[in-house]
Amino acid sequence: MRKKVTVVGSGNVGATAAHWIASKELADVVLIDIIEGVPQGKGLDLLEAMPIEKRDSHVLGTNDYADTANSDIVVITAGIPRKLGMSRDDLLNTNHKIMKDVVGKAIEFSPHSILIVVSNPLDAMAQAAHKMCGFSRERVIGMAGVLDSARFRAFIAEHLDVSVENVTAFVLGGHGDTMVPLPRYSTVAGIPITELLDAQTIEKLVQRTRDGGAEIVKYLKTGSAYYAPSAAVAEMVEAILKDKKKILPCAAYLQGEYGINGLFVGVPVKLGAKGIEQIIEIKLTPQEQEQLNRSAAAVKELVGVIGL
Ligand SMILES: NC(=O)c1ccc[n+]([C@@H]2O[C@H](COP(=O)([O-])OP(=O)(O)OC[C@H]3O[C@@H](n4cnc5c(N)ncnc54)[C@H](O)[C@@H]3O)[C@@H](O)[C@H]2O)c1
Repeated sequence: MRKKVTVVGSGNVGATAAHWIASKELADVVLIDIIEGVPQGKGLDLLEAMPIEKRDSHVLGTNDYADTANSDIVVITAGIPRKLGMSRDDLLNTNHKIMKDVVGKAIEFSPHSILIVVSNPLDAMAQAAHKMCGFSRERVIGMAGVLDSARFRAFIAEHLDVSVENVTAFVLGGHGDTMVPLPRYSTVAGIPITELLDAQTIEKLVQRTRDGGAEIVKYLKTGSAYYAPSAAVAEMVEAILKDKKKILPCAAYLQGEYGINGLFVGVPVKLGAKGIEQIIEIKLTPQEQEQLNRSAAAVKELVGVIGL
């Protein structure tokens, strides 16, 4: 049986995620959106690219959740990106409403799926989706850390003029501002970057990573990043569908790990066919733990606003 992935929201992140997933032949893809015509047009366009890409992935665009039935994975990108001048709470409330609309419909048709949440504010939306669907925590995963660590890796590789393949990066915590990078576990060919770069340079790269989303918004003006975010989604989809047991930083519902209970926070997890198969706990320094606690407090504040 071929695998099936539904992508809810066929805007920039959703359509580009569908592109990566289909062009890597990971699964058949259903793109769904509230806007009529857009998913159909983008889906058909992607389908027509497959002969050139030599891929047999089927791509369908639709407004009807019946077409998404029995998906193995549902990726939720529906929502608005934060616009200039928009308050965090406005974004939170708008996207929470959208979540309420899409999660119930998606899981009605794909009750055995694994959810990957992408909509922002990420950790709070993952928490909302988890509560709405009632799935076990293994099957609701937030995408943020793969993107944040990819940005950090790209900046480290560029700075040291080495292959991105040699660079690994380790980040914990919430998406963006409250991200907690762990330089001592970020390496170039196994060498911790703390051996290769001075503290000031590392801090500069870390800050650029924290501001990675804003740097792109500043250039684009009317939208936010989508190539790297959707590539991050595709990596998570691949890890699950191929049961790769890959260790990736993802937002997961913590139940005591890292001293945090009942909240979605970014931590290293093992992604395989069952979704989150393990949460990897490492010993943090008091300063790292404090940063992680601050990150968790920020998520707690947001989920409080939407009454979760
Ligand atoms: N987690 C991350 O690291 C990360 C990275 C990038 C973007 N994002 C977030 O992903 C979301 C999407 O970003 P984008 O750039 O693709 O935005 P976009 O505006 O290009 O696309 C969003 C799509 O969602 C659709 N939509 C809205 N309400 C819907 C509903 N009820 N049902 C179905 N579809 C609906 C819209 O019609 C639109 O096509 C935003 O919230 C953004 O902030 C998160």
